[in-house]
Amino acid sequence: MRVVSGIQPTGKPHLGNYLGAIRNYVALQDDAHAAGGECLIFIADLHALSMAHDPAELRSSTLELVATLVACGLDPDKAILFNQAQVPLHPEMQWLLNGTARMGWLNRMTQWKDKAGKNREGQSVALFTYPVLQAADVLLYQATHVPVGEDQKQHLELARDIAQKFNNDFGTEDAPIFTLPDPIIPKEAARIMSLRDGSAKMSKSDPSDMSRINLSDDADMMAQKVKKAKTDPEPLPSEEAGLANRPEAKNLVGIYGALAGQSAAEVLAQFGGQGFGAFKPALADLLVAKLGPIRDRFVELKDDSEALDAILARGAAKARERGKPTLDAAYRALGLVRH
Ligand code: TYM
Repeated sequence: MRVVSGIQPTGKPHLGNYLGAIRNYVALQDDAHAAGGECLIFIADLHALSMAHDPAELRSSTLELVATLVACGLDPDKAILFNQAQVPLHPEMQWLLNGTARMGWLNRMTQWKDKAGKNREGQSVALFTYPVLQAADVLLYQATHVPVGEDQKQHLELARDIAQKFNNDFGTEDAPIFTLPDPIIPKEAARIMSLRDGSAKMSKSDPSDMSRINLSDDADMMAQKVKKAKTDPEPLPSEEAGLANRPEAKNLVGIYGALAGQSAAEVLAQFGGQGFGAFKPALADLLVAKLGPIRDRFVELKDDSEALDAILARGAAKARERGKPTLDAAYRALGLVRH
């Protein structure tokens, strides 16, 4: 069992990242540890170059993200925690895979289409080839399990397509070069929506801070954001079917359920018939109870840049070791001469 996943350092990590992905990193870190496997979680700082960014901010947000991941329960003694920039095997592997990935495949990526919009010509080449680096990230380590939110499913399917074609073109049936990775997407909370618009995903890049609960928000801020969250005037329904066409209500019920470990039906059995005036304070209390300890731990860790740097350096050394055999195999399979 090889668990591999990444998270971008641009913007602040939020509730969607936590429920959709980070919580699963922690669960799978323990599963992998128990099964004698390994878990590699990295900060996708090279992916951050695909959009305009501020170098000083990138450095500080990278270290803050390490603090956040540790605060959420990732244990640097159990999982390998690192940033891509210290493991040049990632971009090296990307180049080898660039020969296999097809323009048409990348053109179909919804993230590319959404981010580029009508201005494709003005985008960086990195934004277009972003999914190939993402494929390299997981294939380099022979990942079996890749915990991600729903929005990354298509990128993982692409990684499988690239692996399959590379294996067909350059491997043999008995000795495939790459393992096909399985995405691990949570049943509940795979796509947490913005608090201001139930049709948009909660995102680090949303200009409105009120649209998301950041993992670094304090209790008052969380309560205020829940209070101001967009809703409709109807009370909550007693049955799940009543949430159809009510995206904001559905999102808040989903968040409550994911935090409480309940299905939407169970949440509605408790709150059906009640208005948001009653439900929102209960949700705010639950958020504070679940995320408050994470925030406290984050505040304790975030300023010790020496300790955070040391975690990344140690993780990167291990990651380079784990990735080397597969990178060497890919070079060899392609007929590239290296001594
Ligand atoms: P990123 O940084 O946007 O998000 C990190 C993880 O959080 C999940 N996520 C969400 N889940 C539920 N609801 C939301 N609103 C929400 N927003 C984000 C994402 O699905 C992701 O799992 N391209 C990736 C980073 C990456 C990566 C990889 C992931 C680079 N290489 C290799 C997996 C494997 C990204 O930008 O995630």
